[in-house]
Order: sequence, then C-alpha cells, then structure tokens
Amino acid sequence: TLSNSTNIFWQECPVGKVERQKLLNQKGCVVWITGLSGSGKSTLACSLSRELHSRGKLSYVLDGDNLRHGLNKDLSFKPEDRTENIRRVGEVAKLFADAGLICIASLISPYRKDRDACRAMLPYANFIEVFMNMPLTLCEARDTKGLYKLARAGKIKGFTGIDDPYEPPLNCEIEIQQTDGFCPTPGAMAAQVVSYLEEKGYLE
Ligand code: PPS
Repeated sequence: TLSNSTNIFWQECPVGKVERQKLLNQKGCVVWITGLSGSGKSTLACSLSRELHSRGKLSYVLDGDNLRHGLNKDLSFKPEDRTENIRRVGEVAKLFADAGLICIASLISPYRKDRDACRAMLPYANFIEVFMNMPLTLCEARDTKGLYKLARAGKIKGFTGIDDPYEPPLNCEIEIQQTDGFCPTPGAMAAQVVSYLEEKGYLE
C-alpha cells in the first residue's frame, strides 16, 4: 500500500504481546470469517464469541456491517472501497491480536487478494480463515435482509454474488458447509472453530 508517512520511528514498549498473553492465558490470533451476504458470518461470530467468553477467553468481534457505521462509513461497495475496507479491518484485527485477544472478523471480504493481504500482516498461522460455504441459491432463497431481491431488481448495483464477484478461499483453515439439506446449528459451527483453536494451542 502507498505510504505517505515519512521520518517516522517504531517505538518499543516493555509490556509486549508475550506479557499480555501470559496475563490473559491465551494467544492472540485472527479468526477471519468470509462468505456471501446471508451465509451466517455474523451468526457464527456471535456464537463463537459467546462460547469463548464462557470458557474465560477474551475475544472481540469486528463485523463488516457494523464497522461501516463508523470506522468505514466513508467507504462504498465499489471494488477499491471494499479493498480499503478489508485493509483497514485487517490492520485493526492485527492490533487486537497483538493485544492478546482472539479477534473475530466477519466480513464478506469477497476478493482473495485482499484476504491474503490481511494474512500477510500477521505470522501465517495466526490468521485463521473460515469459509462460510453456503450456495448462492440458498443465501438468496433465505434473503434475510431482502437485499438479494433488491439486487435482482437492479435497485442495488454491484451486489456480491449477483453482479460483483465472490472468490472462495483456496486454502482456508476451516470450511463450514451449509446446504439445503444440512445446516449446522450456530453452536455446532462455533464448536468446529473452538476445536481448531484448541488443537493449535490458542486457548492455552
Ligand atoms: S465487504 O465486501 O467485505 O466490503 O462487505 P462488508 O463490509 O462485509 O459489508 C457487507 C454488508 O453490507 C450490506 N451490503 C452489501 N453487501 C454486498 N454487496 C453490496 N453491494 C452491499 N450493499 C450493502 C449487506 O448487509 C452485507 O451484510 P452481510 O452481513 O454480509 O449480509
């Protein structure tokens, strides 16, 4: 990314990530949930956060829709603004992970290169990509917010999956499969992520 900052210096502080992680008894990381609108990203984020909280683990949810009310309210849905949206949230998520938290980012994040750029901000293993794999037909059939209907009617331009692309991950850590016949409960989806975090030592 283009930087306009010059003559700047990095300041080290005696209390660092290691000290914070000891205090919290957990390891900071980013759980990045990607998927189509209506694929259950926020549902999983909330369920996962609740489960971690009940285990005494500190997490924080960064939700795309919510952040667009504040930090990212200047951004539209055109490709370059989505890229900037993901970049900003990636930077914020990196700070939360550095603070020692399990940061749960839940955004469509439709472009692979943008998600990869966020991964590249962190040590590789600390970016856990979760793909909400729900067919477009099912997201559209549910249409919980009525946005697909508006997009099909041409009232929303550049809607993901309709007239703007969604690029599924090629190498994600976790895939949550949801089909017409099979949809795991929010608790079951969260359990899938929690067992991954346990296995990789993030909850120690
Ligand atoms: S992105 O692509 O990652 O920058 O999007 P994100 O910040 O996650 O915001 C997605 C929510 O914005 C609403 N919305 C749209 N989504 C996709 N395309 C277009 N054009 C659009 N316009 C508005 C929609 O409610 C998304 O919420 P979710 O939770 O994904 O359904």
